Amino acid sequence: MKRLGVNIDHVATIRNSRGEHHPDPYYAALQVMKMGADSVTIHLREDRRHINDLDAKKICQSKKILVNLEISMNEKIVRNALKIKPDYICIVPENRKEVTTEGGLNLTKNKKKLKDIIKKFKKNKIRTSLFINPSIRDVKKSKEFNVDCVEIHTGKISNLVKLNKTYHNELDRIKRSSIFAKKLGIEVHAGHGLDYKTTKILNKIREIEEFNIGHYIIGESVFFGLSKVIKNFKKIINK
Ligand code: PXP
Repeated sequence: MKRLGVNIDHVATIRNSRGEHHPDPYYAALQVMKMGADSVTIHLREDRRHINDLDAKKICQSKKILVNLEISMNEKIVRNALKIKPDYICIVPENRKEVTTEGGLNLTKNKKKLKDIIKKFKKNKIRTSLFINPSIRDVKKSKEFNVDCVEIHTGKISNLVKLNKTYHNELDRIKRSSIFAKKLGIEVHAGHGLDYKTTKILNKIREIEEFNIGHYIIGESVFFGLSKVIKNFKKIINK
């Protein structure tokens, strides 16, 4: 069975737009798990634009929520993450000016830093993942870093599909990277920009074991409710 991780950052975005307490991301995390999500993803950004430290702490403390915490390589954030002990960590690149995560990590430039961070999380028995572009070279490097999982950035294929452009080369890159990672014993995840259509396309890649989806789920929930949208995605990924 493939797994669905639901990113609830945008529940915090809505809450923060009023500077008050509603809607509460902690409550959302509990609900999402009840509705059939396999895990909850939150991104504790350096600028705290959505999820804040208290949200992350509360969500990670709950035994009812399996948490995938996305973080950058920032030292303070890494230290913080080690303190709040999520179930899973996904290391992502972060750029203050971006609207959302724009690409995979630069594994060459950040080799030493990443190796050290991965070692720390693994020592604490936290499943650790690297957010990478779909490339054989980056999968090979991830193996050198001894990481448990890679999450393949699906932003490019998602944009191509949405614009009705040919996406087969990108799909092929994702497929080859996934097969290679699995062969090397690395668990494969996929995420970014996914909607029903792109998830259906990527679901044909058997090696992908987990999808992490946020923006589209929260957006569709405005019209159809979280429970229905989560059920729809679970149906798609378990076909
Ligand atoms: N996976 C990773 C590593 C991400 O950084 C994000 C965006 O925070 C997602 C998945 C979810 O992307 P989206 O919100 O576009 O579904």
